[in-house]
Amino acid sequence: MNPIPRPLKATLLFPAAVVTLIVGGLAPGLLPAQTNQSETTNVPAPATVGTNSAPTMPVLQIDAGKVTGRVSPLLYGLMTEEINYSYEGGLYGELIRNRTFKANRTYPVFWDIVGNGVISLDTNQPLNPALNVSLKLDVSKATEDSPAGIVNGGFWGIPIRPNTAYRASFYAKGKHFRGPLTVTMESKDGRTILASATVPKISGEWENYEVTLATGNVDPSKENQLVISTTKPGTFWHRHGTVWFQQVSLFPPTWNNRSYGNRIDLMQRLAAMHPAFLRFPGGNYVEGNTIAERFNWKETVGDISERPGHHSPWGYWSTDGFGLLEFLEWCEDCHMQPVLAVYAGYSLRQQHVDPGPELEPYVQEALDEIEYVTGDTSTKGGGQRAKDGHAAPFELNYVEIGNEDFFDRSHSYEGRFTQFFDAIKAKYPDLRLIATTPVKNRVPDLVDEHYYRSQEEMEAHALDYDQRPRTGPKIFVGEWATRVGSPTPNMAGALGDAAWMTGMERNSDLVIMSSYAPLLVNVSRLTGPDHSMQWRTDLIGYDALTSYGSPAYYAQVMFSTHHGDEILATDSQNISTRDWQAPARRRGGAEQPQPPVQQIRQIFFDATRDSETGTIYLKVVNELGTPRPVKIQISGVTGVDPEGTAIMLRANSPDDTNSLAEPGKIVPVTVSIAVGTDFACELPPYSITILELKTK
Ligand code: AHR
Repeated sequence: MNPIPRPLKATLLFPAAVVTLIVGGLAPGLLPAQTNQSETTNVPAPATVGTNSAPTMPVLQIDAGKVTGRVSPLLYGLMTEEINYSYEGGLYGELIRNRTFKANRTYPVFWDIVGNGVISLDTNQPLNPALNVSLKLDVSKATEDSPAGIVNGGFWGIPIRPNTAYRASFYAKGKHFRGPLTVTMESKDGRTILASATVPKISGEWENYEVTLATGNVDPSKENQLVISTTKPGTFWHRHGTVWFQQVSLFPPTWNNRSYGNRIDLMQRLAAMHPAFLRFPGGNYVEGNTIAERFNWKETVGDISERPGHHSPWGYWSTDGFGLLEFLEWCEDCHMQPVLAVYAGYSLRQQHVDPGPELEPYVQEALDEIEYVTGDTSTKGGGQRAKDGHAAPFELNYVEIGNEDFFDRSHSYEGRFTQFFDAIKAKYPDLRLIATTPVKNRVPDLVDEHYYRSQEEMEAHALDYDQRPRTGPKIFVGEWATRVGSPTPNMAGALGDAAWMTGMERNSDLVIMSSYAPLLVNVSRLTGPDHSMQWRTDLIGYDALTSYGSPAYYAQVMFSTHHGDEILATDSQNISTRDWQAPARRRGGAEQPQPPVQQIRQIFFDATRDSETGTIYLKVVNELGTPRPVKIQISGVTGVDPEGTAIMLRANSPDDTNSLAEPGKIVPVTVSIAVGTDFACELPPYSITILELKTK
């Protein structure tokens, strides 16, 4: 059983970090305190920018006597979908690729033969209407010296760890073949058997077989395969045997020991982010390329052998082993609120359903889905959920209607949103409903905004929300990322992100939820045929065996685990800026004039306070490549404990990054720092710093 994730001290969150604690002294790179006074002007400070290369020291001012709003408890969450092999070949523990043989209609891709076996797809021996094809293996040439069998190499490898029990299972039926079948986990060259078990007898009808494969004291490795083979060519009387397979599965131990659960290292990384919510199942994944390929939730629940699976819009097959209930259990395991995106009648290839009677079945599908999530066991949906193994209803407060419907060229969203909104509010008046683009006919509780930008664009827009009127719906920044670095963001990406997050946090009375996207990427094969990455710049990278967090991941962890519940007024002087000219855009195929050069800040900050403890969290981003002395002034408090804590993420270059080979190159460090109500310190180059200041 894994421990329940709970808030950790910052120093424990980053085991790879070099943690320096200098009690009563100063951390390296931080200047001694100074006491010069500087004037304070009105708050907030978005428009107050200095001149290029301002010679004077920047001053960051916090008015602790003025609370401008509450930090939303839901500000930091996760967004996820099946992209970049996020679940299949990612979070979902399944180690067998194409376990249901449906990834390709004509050939059993990712499967191969052992010895003289002959394999083919067979639609004449379906397991059931959902898994309506099987893998046929002709074993008639099997011998003691050359067994016949099938082999699968997993998602770019099968991870094998020492002293670990794996559960292998499959459906099989034989004709002129009664077994035995040997199941092995072995090295890719077949020379080393790492674990083995035997299924002694195979029936003539479909049956499920399960064995445990226990490894010994082996080295962790991923260049491995699963083999199911036999030395028997058939029965005694008929020596030309055939065996059919369906749903061949191999599971390692999983988080919270769920039978078809999640990969432990990835869950640890996600739990460390302390996310408040999970937005699922997309993104484009909820929409599908076509209406038929939408996330049809009803086909993703129940026994996994009854789930037909579907093509994800990101170009590969999904078995839907990771279905609606798995998403919800993931929420449960990480103590996140579900933010459920329902299919709203628009799919990516410009297919849409007109509002009115034709849309009704889809509205009903969404209502049924909400009932499955929230209904008690006396309801149809709740009863089905209980049958699927989860009697307790899930708490659901937010439902998003569609995804990025501004792409719908039929402009039908206004009508579709209205129809969904009215039906859901009528049955579930307390649910807060999210529109994916502004609408006029109804007032959504939130509007979802998406931003994928360069570092400079993020920084140029980091103050935008300071100017937003507070009269409309609340904002959910449901997808955003500084897209710098591939496959995962580098330090430039983390700096852009952190600048942007100071803006969201400072305006969290308005921006009540946010989630970086995409969250996960399998980095095994970045380009070329059978690539594992569909979208560059993703928060967490992994292969079959190990994983790492990008610098942007650590920035997220720092922000989400260090903030108060009150937003404090801030102001600033002498913030230096740099020139930046946004690239020219194209509109209607024609290049537009390049926008004029503009000034973007080089320091970003915001301050929050924990109303119970009085601790102030000051977040400061220095995007400059040089150390930056800054003065910090805090008014509205009696005093500040002279010893503060600084949690810092820094790099020598904006291109520096983490990778599978160097997972801990850029990780936060925690140091002690001398502070006060008026002090100076030096921000390291390319750095994100959170100062924890205990007030009196
Ligand atoms: O995050 C990747 C994609 O970007 C999402 O699927 C979609 O909503 C957005 O366009």
